[in-house]
Amino acid sequence: MTEARSEVSLGMPQLPAPAYPAEVRARLEADAKEVIARYPGSRSALLPLLHLVQSEEGYVSRTGMAFCAEVLDLTTAEVTAVATFYTMYRRRAGGDYQVGVCTNTLCAVMGGDAIFDRLKDHLGVGNDETTEDGKVTLEHIECNAACDFAPVVMVNWEFFDNQTPESATQLVDDLIAGRTVEPTRGAPLCSYKETARILAGFPDERPGAVAASGGAGPASLIGLKLAKGEATPQPRVVGPRGEAPSDEPQKGAEHLSSHDAPQQTSASDPDHPAGPAAEEGE
Ligand code: FES
Repeated sequence: MTEARSEVSLGMPQLPAPAYPAEVRARLEADAKEVIARYPGSRSALLPLLHLVQSEEGYVSRTGMAFCAEVLDLTTAEVTAVATFYTMYRRRAGGDYQVGVCTNTLCAVMGGDAIFDRLKDHLGVGNDETTEDGKVTLEHIECNAACDFAPVVMVNWEFFDNQTPESATQLVDDLIAGRTVEPTRGAPLCSYKETARILAGFPDERPGAVAASGGAGPASLIGLKLAKGEATPQPRVVGPRGEAPSDEPQKGAEHLSSHDAPQQTSASDPDHPAGPAAEEGE
């Protein structure tokens, strides 16, 4: 990155990207042809092709971008603009496992920040850095629309729900030791390069992978179940401070939503009842 910036700032022309070895080039060309044929316009294939070249080197190199530009008849500037916009494309080599800790608002308050700090100390790396053995790249990630399972950690885009600093530490230890880890939901875990090939649109041929990859988790489905009458709204479990929890259904319970789902709340902790905090001196 530093090198590229200095070339630009000095106004020096950039050297052509190194070429792929002939065997790699022939293989990628055949794959690219298959991907491009899925779209009415070839340029629409850019995103999957960036995943394809990422599956070759583990990141989107200058060689990969030049390849995409050539087969899609785009400029390298157009390809670079897209590759640098999306965070799922790496711009430099990283680990076999991309460990992303969600530190967006909900995950952060539910423990995401603590998980990230623990992993940073445990692995001895910072954000977007890779362990010396090349196994794990650690990064902050943005909301992955899995807030109902917060705090969430993702490894190569597979979900590990409701994590704690301890469970996340065990997770990275297992990855580094080569032990099998199972995502909470979805397909079995594979390497970063293998994941990139699946994201390029090539079938996941591992036994059972497709069957395991579908379906939302129970916390995401509770609203739908309530709306269909397949679940019963729960009695109120949170009361104003000092008021005993009521067994009466909530007011407006006919308007069901996921907020009516049974929840663990602070009302279950007698030392920290819910409700407005008492004024000092009351
Ligand atoms: S805030 Fe973490 S998944 Fe939404």
